[in-house]
Amino acid sequence: MAELSGKRVVVGVTGGVAAYKAAELVRLLVKAGALVDVALTQSGGRFVGAPTFQALSGRPVWTDLWDARPDNGMAHIDLTRGAAACVIAPATADFIAKLAHGFADDLLSTLCLARDCPLLVAPAMNRQMWEKPATQRNVAQLRSDGIAILGPASGEQACGEEGLGRMLEAADIFEELVGSLQPKRLAGRRVLLTAGPTFEAIDPVRGITNPSSGRMGFALARAFRDAGAAVTLVAGPVELAAPRGVRRVDAVSAEEMRAAVLDALPGQHIFVGVAAVADYRPAGAAAHKIKKSAAPLTLQLEPTRDILAEVAARADAPFCVGFAAESRDLAAYARRKLEEKKLRLVVGNLIQDGLGGETNAVTLFDAAGEHPLPLGDKLNVARDIVSHIADMIDPCTV
Ligand code: CTP
Repeated sequence: MAELSGKRVVVGVTGGVAAYKAAELVRLLVKAGALVDVALTQSGGRFVGAPTFQALSGRPVWTDLWDARPDNGMAHIDLTRGAAACVIAPATADFIAKLAHGFADDLLSTLCLARDCPLLVAPAMNRQMWEKPATQRNVAQLRSDGIAILGPASGEQACGEEGLGRMLEAADIFEELVGSLQPKRLAGRRVLLTAGPTFEAIDPVRGITNPSSGRMGFALARAFRDAGAAVTLVAGPVELAAPRGVRRVDAVSAEEMRAAVLDALPGQHIFVGVAAVADYRPAGAAAHKIKKSAAPLTLQLEPTRDILAEVAARADAPFCVGFAAESRDLAAYARRKLEEKKLRLVVGNLIQDGLGGETNAVTLFDAAGEHPLPLGDKLNVARDIVSHIADMIDPCTV
């Protein structure tokens, strides 16, 4: 099912050049199944016209407090009633100032004041405008009023200057919005995860690794964050950006990953080993590049330490979850890992197409039995796993 189906979202567009990104945001929201109502300020309409938003949302666009279309003439009230969220993108310095002071002199500012749904604001302005004490005061006020501030990002600005003030990309705003709508079932919990492969050096230019993409671990980090947890992600060598708000620690070898995990472990409530940690590493990496010769080369391998088993064996162990990617006999191997490593949950999947795919078909194994999850993309599977963990944790304390 599409992520936002059945949900209505109000997108407010104020007068900044980043309004062009709002068009893409509307498209992403519609694609995810949301009903999107766009409210455009007068200056927003100078950058991107109402017909663009109307075509993308497939719904009328709202621009005027005196719009006679609603029967009761109260678009400023009706628009947010029943809406899942209202997001202002772009939000100019002027509009942020209006919000901070509760002004209501046009449709968008009035509906923000009259709203009964969460409000998210994506600032977009020149870096000097962003840095000014007045803007910072206003933003701090919005935060303390419970309004989510998304970004801004840093980088090249439309005016040619570089700095903080660029609006987040549409995909990032979309991600934040979807995340904000997830139930905060793990609020106050701290979660530590490992993700990706490890790389075990043979010599300075070669090593042993595996094709784990890290995507399942990163998706889980995001799903835990969206569920309200404080997340630390120990990542092996992968080309992925950590979800916003997640603390990332990079590690290369199994031994570095273990050290990073043990360092971050105190105070964690949940530990999830998603990484495909190398089980063996070369016994003593060569200090210099191994030169080619006609003779066969034998590599001596030694076992690495099992991070998950070590964490789960501690007297003060957090709630421990492991992954079992198997090429056969999934249930038997997953159960064995559950028992031998003393885990609360094992996420098992049968590898048919190798590691690193986009989707994942997984079965959860715990003391209560087997729970197959519906096939989905890694983020949806991650959300299901997080919700199962929250079910297990709810009645007890970890
Ligand atoms: N794991 C770990 N440290 C290791 C090896 C594995 O933390 N050195 C964790 C993985 O992150 C995963 C779980 O243990 O959550 C199972 O990993 P997997 O490689 O499937 O199993 P192994 O225990 O290594 O057993 P085998 O390779 O024989 O299947």
